[in-house]
Amino acid sequence: MKFRTIKGTKDILPDEIAGWQHVESVVRRVMHDFNYREIRTPAFEQTGLFARSIGELTDIVSKEMYTFLDRSEESLTLRPEGTAAALRAYIQNNLGEQSPLTKVYYIGPMFRQERPQAGRLRQFHQFGAEALGASSPLLDVEMMALPLEIYKQLGIDHYSLKINSVGCEKCRPAYKKLLQTELRKVFSQLSPDSQVRVGQNPLRVLDSKNEKDRELTNNMPLMYKHLCEECTLHFASVRSIFDALTISYEVDGRLVRGLDYYTKTAFEITSTALGSQDALAGGGRYDLLVEELGGKSTPGVGFAAGIERLLMVLSQLGKSDQKQAPPVIYFVGLDEPAHIWTFLKATELRQKGICAEVDYLGRSVKSQMREANRQQAHYVIVVGEQELKTKAAKLKNMLSGEEISISLDDIKIPT
Ligand code: HAM
Repeated sequence: MKFRTIKGTKDILPDEIAGWQHVESVVRRVMHDFNYREIRTPAFEQTGLFARSIGELTDIVSKEMYTFLDRSEESLTLRPEGTAAALRAYIQNNLGEQSPLTKVYYIGPMFRQERPQAGRLRQFHQFGAEALGASSPLLDVEMMALPLEIYKQLGIDHYSLKINSVGCEKCRPAYKKLLQTELRKVFSQLSPDSQVRVGQNPLRVLDSKNEKDRELTNNMPLMYKHLCEECTLHFASVRSIFDALTISYEVDGRLVRGLDYYTKTAFEITSTALGSQDALAGGGRYDLLVEELGGKSTPGVGFAAGIERLLMVLSQLGKSDQKQAPPVIYFVGLDEPAHIWTFLKATELRQKGICAEVDYLGRSVKSQMREANRQQAHYVIVVGEQELKTKAAKLKNMLSGEEISISLDDIKIPT
């Protein structure tokens, strides 16, 4: 074999595709019910767009982006996520002028050069949504209720929703200083990764997966307990709306997320059915991001969810047995004229929306029958010289074995 897929990328084979299409159709239906409209942005953008929005110091920007110079020496990056691109499109196309609130969703591949493992790929797929133009906590809740409804409709009910508030430009700086003071007291015992974060991004230390780091930071002050009045009220509203919707959640003061653009609400949906990469979806509010990217000051909130991880959960739950519908009719041809006739007939049936298949390989009757069986065709019609002369043939039900006489001029599928 000369060429293979790149490490961390996967073919999605025909046997798997029905599962993907099922997920995509539920996503599209629920997005529509929540009144989100689809947006499709390019797979690559200017590198600066991601560096500016996700944050230079994040793992994504500092070590995971697929960045390259094109032939005109411009630095481009394969999108590592969908939010920055959706906001770029919102600003560039003045979507905010058409309506005060813009609700969009996307489904597509994202690219991050992470260490591949179960549930972590270098090309993976997300569905996600962004709502731009309103700061209402109702929208924060909508952004969490939306993926949860998708999971519910797919039959997943074991997940946990963690929420936090990461404050805003008014309250975060003072909290950051407070946290840094505490972190410096245990600095030498922190993991090297966390030590790097103390100076620039101390909140991420709380989010560390390292056991020792977690122990050391166990009793450290949490952002949601040091919010300004506006953020406190916002967080309280989000929680009370959840209570009214009877959606259960947990406040996790350590939840920070790996992207720097969040203000106020941040959340993650995890599943115990996944291993260490347990995040099914994540998102939050980003009230400063549109302005940061050159647009008018516009509040926003969004989420994104991994499709591969969702499919892993569905498969563990035994809910991934979707199959593409098999052919309704498989024509078995006995000689060359019959092959041509069956091909023309199949074309006619296909135009009527009936899935029909013929033999293209000049196989024996036995092996054509075997193929019809393998493809789980509902019916088989054997056509040879005799059938073409009399215009009469047998329609065989492959499940029951029953045969009925039919006219080849008017093939009707029994209902
Ligand atoms: P994120 O947490 O980086 O957020 O990614 C969202 C989801 O994408 C994760 O929870 C996970 O299911 C999936 N995912 C991420 N990386 C990988 C990977 N390497 N392999 C497989 N699945 C992966 C965002 O991307 C933000 N844009 C979410 C957002 C939208 N915030 C506001 N709006």
